[in-house]
Amino acid sequence: MTREKDIDTLFLEERRYPPSAEFAAQANAQPGIYEEDFDAFWEREGRERVAWFEPFTKLYEWEPPYARWYLGGKLNVAWNCLDKHVEAGRGDSVAYYWEGEPEGDRRELTYADLLAEVTKLANGLKQLGVGKGTPVGIYMGMVPEAPVAMLACARLGAPHTVVFGGFSADSLAGRLQDMECEVLITQDEAWRRGTTVPLKRTADEAVAASPTVQSVIVLRRTGNDVPMTAGRDHWWHELAVDASACPAEPMDPEDLLYLLYTSGTTAKPKGIAHTTAGYLVGVATTHHYIFDLKRDADVYWCAADVGWVTGHSYIVYGPLCNGAASVMYEGTPDFPDKDRWWEVAERYGVTILYTAPTAIRSHMKWGPEHAAKHDLSKLRLLGSVGEPINPEAWIWYHEHIGGERCPIVDTWWQTETGMIMITPLPGITTTKPGSATKPFPGVDAAIYNDAGEEVGPGGGGYLVLRRPWPAMLRGLYKEHDRYVDTYWSRYDDVYFAGDGARVDEDSDFWLLGRVDDVMNVSGHRISTIEVESALVDHHDVAEAAVAARHDGTTGQAIVAFVTLKSGIEGSVAMLEELRDHVAKKIGPIAKPANIVFTPELPKTRSGKIMRRLLRDVAENRPLGDTTTLADPTVVEELRHRGAEEQSNED
Ligand code: WT7
Repeated sequence: MTREKDIDTLFLEERRYPPSAEFAAQANAQPGIYEEDFDAFWEREGRERVAWFEPFTKLYEWEPPYARWYLGGKLNVAWNCLDKHVEAGRGDSVAYYWEGEPEGDRRELTYADLLAEVTKLANGLKQLGVGKGTPVGIYMGMVPEAPVAMLACARLGAPHTVVFGGFSADSLAGRLQDMECEVLITQDEAWRRGTTVPLKRTADEAVAASPTVQSVIVLRRTGNDVPMTAGRDHWWHELAVDASACPAEPMDPEDLLYLLYTSGTTAKPKGIAHTTAGYLVGVATTHHYIFDLKRDADVYWCAADVGWVTGHSYIVYGPLCNGAASVMYEGTPDFPDKDRWWEVAERYGVTILYTAPTAIRSHMKWGPEHAAKHDLSKLRLLGSVGEPINPEAWIWYHEHIGGERCPIVDTWWQTETGMIMITPLPGITTTKPGSATKPFPGVDAAIYNDAGEEVGPGGGGYLVLRRPWPAMLRGLYKEHDRYVDTYWSRYDDVYFAGDGARVDEDSDFWLLGRVDDVMNVSGHRISTIEVESALVDHHDVAEAAVAARHDGTTGQAIVAFVTLKSGIEGSVAMLEELRDHVAKKIGPIAKPANIVFTPELPKTRSGKIMRRLLRDVAENRPLGDTTTLADPTVVEELRHRGAEEQSNED
């Protein structure tokens, strides 16, 4: 199916799912919420959702393109996530039900346990010289110590950058160097599908290239031997031993909480900056209303990885600030069996599940019998995030996981927005499979055409955000010009999200995917240029161009067109070598699904690669993994259509 057709089918979706009266009656969000005044809404949420050492005196200041929120206040994010609950007598409530990948490997951490762990690590970090403003890198898997590490940093006022455990040494080094991290927190190895991922070994390689890193803290997870560098490396269990109180640093609302690097349209990832107060209010408020959290009754499971923004906002900061009991799962959905998720959901009595369309489509492919083996009757709300959800997957999720009774919240947002921006509110919104529906209260989203005019019902264009919001990024780390160019140069003082969207007769939004050179593979953001740079970094590659094609499971898949240096032949071995090279440079998630070896790339007379043409070629062909290897018809088509476009240009 072509993309255009896909979009039209999506937009013509006519099924409607109004909220049930039972859900509506008990919902955290009541209809009046949409009528509330912008300032009054964020003012109240700021006071209710978050506890302050000193109250804020001014709601926000907006000097485009920079906003500041909750000025004059003092707070600590970790205090809000831990001490607040313990002091209120909720120390015995569960914060995380942790399920390890090896079966039977389980831990329950209460808020008091979590505070104790965070205190010990924070004391250990202090010993290494970490204090307010010291940048710390975190390179871990899905273990409870990952949130502990984040919170220990937040407690001391040390900004962190979490690097997804699937990223390569080069990617990790790039981030450690850019942020000038002084400490790196990692683990010996991570479990993945019964084998181990050598995190410490990769970290060693990255640290060797990152001269600012003075100390490495290593959590023992698998227990296998890893090399330790004397004087630099410390075992977590030897360092984090001092349980004496470690006061939470009072922070300014605009102090940096963390950087999270994400792909843009150039080879260099952008360091998205989030600060303390507005971010915390934004994630806690959205988490409360959108997931309808009842903290003493719900068991909430966000099945993302802490290495992505979804994990930061909706596994760590939002749920903990709200005192939620969360499930955290270390492994993959199909290990050892395809019903692992549902077994976990049943065991803990999960009531709220938040995941990505790509995962839903995998479960769909495996068949509903795996979920059917388990009692999922406690589920009462389902969420989706990461890419547009196709109506088939939405319906499957609704029927086979939600038992046709759970509202689905399809939540649109970005690393940059920090919090969910467009979403149904359960109990209020009539949902439509494939539509993220309405801007969250206190969010001003619109769709603009090329001329910067707002598009009305039935129209399409670019998604923009017209007013600042509390959790908005505070810029790109050390890159003011790029911040302005990327988000603020298309329209005056209006945030350009980089997504195409349409709006229907009910003013519901339908997100259509990126309009720039950013691809979305399994909900992961990958830039075409980043993959191209990784490919041309290989000594046998002369030139490379990358385009995405539609994929039934991963949403998009990466297709690379590669010209090898003269004298070098395309082969299956070369194809595998290039895929591995990309995995080594970026990480396995960026591996091209297909590589087409071609003697030349179609270019305009001015020498620009004709990307649109490559996209068309990639899109319209069911490219099997190796079948496209120097496929003469593809090469012929590239040549032919390139020539055609040239003559059209004349
Ligand atoms: C891009 C942001 C937000 C956490 C995960 C991804 C796409 C995200 C949706 C959705 C349609 C979506 C957009 C956006 N996206 N959620 N519900 N419907 N598209 O964060 O890596 O910063 O990627 O993901 O294209 O721009 P991210």
